[in-house]
Amino acid sequence: MFLAAANRDPRRWEAPDSYDITRRTSGHVGYGSGIHMCVGQLVARLEGEVMMAALARRVARIEMTGEPKRLFNNTLRGLEKLPVEITPA
Ligand code: HEM
Repeated sequence: MFLAAANRDPRRWEAPDSYDITRRTSGHVGYGSGIHMCVGQLVARLEGEVMMAALARRVARIEMTGEPKRLFNNTLRGLEKLPVEITPA
């Protein structure tokens, strides 16, 4: 299965390329699916939550300062580079 394609399948997701914080994400395969589903996902989710909470407390604004560069990968979507400028709160 192509995980990145599945997470952007228009037959499953409305406006799949838009970031929608209100989207019901049940059924996404960001951490895989079935017997090989990511065993580290609880750690990864906790790390993400801790990092986002710390950023929200300390940062007023994050702005892109250049073009993002896509990661070249057959199955996963990601970025190799995302230049940003961070303004402290
Ligand atoms: C945002 C962070 C992470 C993402 C997006 C992610 C994503 C994934 C995905 C999509 C798979 C399934 C691959 C497949 O079907 O072939 C996977 C498997 C796996 N992940 Fe993660 N992962 C993350 C973090 C972690 C962490 C922190 C650990 C360990 C502490 C971990 C350990 C593993 C292992 C051991 C597998 C293989 C499970 C198996 O084949 O039975 N991952 N991960």
